[in-house]
Amino acid sequence: MSALKTQVGIIGAGPAGLLLGHLLHVNGIDSVIVENRSRDYVIDRVRAGVLEQGTVDLLVAMGVGAGLQRRGLRHDGLYISFQGRRHRIDLADLTGGKAITVYGQNEVVRDLIEARTATARPLYFEAACVTVGALDSPNPVIRFRHGDADHEIQCDFIAGCDGFHGICRPSVPAGVLSTYERNYPFGWLGILAEAEPSSDELVYSCHERGFALFSMRSPTVTRLYFQVPPEEPIDNWSDEAIWDEMLERMTTRDGWQPHVGRIIQKGVTPMRSFVAAPMRHGRLFLAGDASHIVPPTGAKGLNLAASDVLVLARAMKAFYGRGRTDWLDEYSDVCVRRVWKAQRFSWWMTATLHRFPDETPFDRQRRIADLDYLTSSRAAMTSLAEQYVGLPAEVSFESAGL
Ligand code: FAD
Ligand code: PHB
Repeated sequence: MSALKTQVGIIGAGPAGLLLGHLLHVNGIDSVIVENRSRDYVIDRVRAGVLEQGTVDLLVAMGVGAGLQRRGLRHDGLYISFQGRRHRIDLADLTGGKAITVYGQNEVVRDLIEARTATARPLYFEAACVTVGALDSPNPVIRFRHGDADHEIQCDFIAGCDGFHGICRPSVPAGVLSTYERNYPFGWLGILAEAEPSSDELVYSCHERGFALFSMRSPTVTRLYFQVPPEEPIDNWSDEAIWDEMLERMTTRDGWQPHVGRIIQKGVTPMRSFVAAPMRHGRLFLAGDASHIVPPTGAKGLNLAASDVLVLARAMKAFYGRGRTDWLDEYSDVCVRRVWKAQRFSWWMTATLHRFPDETPFDRQRRIADLDYLTSSRAAMTSLAEQYVGLPAEVSFESAGL
């Protein structure tokens, strides 16, 4: 058994864990990151694509924005499509110059793993049997098996950044966390296709047959999604059937439609809204998907993970630098307020753009009226725009040592 000590033990090398590790590094705080999957698996997993303005600014301020600045695609607007027409919402004009950037989560993760490796601070991949304990004590521990060796790491704090299916949230004793949940009666079938994007900006389509979304990853790769039943087996869909459905739902009266190409990846994702609070128990702090999930329609999940760890890094910097504990105590409240605003926005985008299996003709007309109002009122477009590009972070970059 090898026994190690660190200041912050981080479970999970997704965006939350890797960003936190780097923010702590910048502040001279020691950490060990423990991930149960392989490096290739973590990098290749296809997920989010949209970074809020604040997330872009954060990555750049942390010194890990070079790839993003070179290969990220800045979008000043997006389209909402319904009844055969696309309506542009000018995000930059409505928010005083803010925008979103399309840069794959796997690129973000790859850049952060490279930055971590350059610091020579420990990052274990393929850790087995990961557990956390003594959460109420001054020295919580992480135990895991790596190769043939058992490890125990004694920490000052543990950051639970291990996603929705991780072990940290379930390690909190029963009765401590309140949970709030909503499951949706649909999921998203998503594909990556070798096809030049046919629009410079995203298109969110509300169609009678259900929701569809046009996005991209690069000048040669298109990313597309459409709404399917929640447990839909991907094998039910041949590539040909996927393209037929995509084109049916997305083609607008002016003839716009995505370019068709070879499908290089496909999968179905369930949709849920979930919050567990408080985001702390003793010396365990939960961040990112470990404590909250949003349906992907608002493109908020990765961005919330980033804002959580910014708040956590600020609190840890103040603890180690000045012995302050009040920011650690406030961590959950500060994050949860922003989380609920993102929950509300993601729920609203989802409810307005998707077809619910039990919806009545009244519900459908109301949804169309919602979209009609949205795309014809500057006030309504401004509200969408300021939330889509990201509400302001709750704390300054300076206070987190940047
Ligand atoms: P994760 O990325 O889940 O990382 C957790 C890590 O912990 C993983 O590497 C996991 O392997 C590891 N782990 C799990 N259990 C253990 C264990 N026991 N021990 C050690 N390690 C463990 N968000 C956006 O902001 N914009 C978007 O456009 C967007 N689109 C999306 C599209 C899809 C199809 C999906 C599925 C999600 C999308 N999201 C989007 C959400 C976004 O991907 C997540 O919110 C984000 O990955 C959260 O990061 P995280 O680090 O908290 O969790
Ligand atoms: C994506 O490009 O993967 C993407 C874009 C917007 C969303 C969700 C996912 O709302």
